[in-house]
Amino acid sequence: MASESLHPASAPSRRTVVAAVGATGLAITLNACGSDDGGSSGSAGSSGTVLGKTADIPEGGGKIFKEQGVVVTQPTAGEFKAFSSKCTHQGCAVTGIAKGVITCPCHQSEFSVSDGSVKKGPATQALPAEKITVSGDSIELA
Ligand code: FES
Repeated sequence: MASESLHPASAPSRRTVVAAVGATGLAITLNACGSDDGGSSGSAGSSGTVLGKTADIPEGGGKIFKEQGVVVTQPTAGEFKAFSSKCTHQGCAVTGIAKGVITCPCHQSEFSVSDGSVKKGPATQALPAEKITVSGDSIELA
């Protein structure tokens, strides 16, 4: 309150810009959903499920989609990969992605965000790749 009264002219305009950006993002999201429903049939199954937007996936890291059991990574700018989120050691769901590795909370196995390969055991097998398609800024399970 007190700080706003210091700059009565600039505060409202800044707020307007933020609101406009928010509205644009929302419109894009709605559009993507609408075109998916109309364009492809059978989107009720896992195939064609929209996981998220490319902007949701940090470069050099990734995001875990718990419900779908999938980890989507972006090892380098514009390159997206997906793996099963089920640890190959004893089947726990991986929960963390940091510094280029996907981490399993159960026994701290680590897998590469680039190819799912084991960086640190006890797991000995890579996370299996999952198929995704990127159309525009939307990432879907293939
Ligand atoms: S289940 Fe993942 S490290 Fe053991």
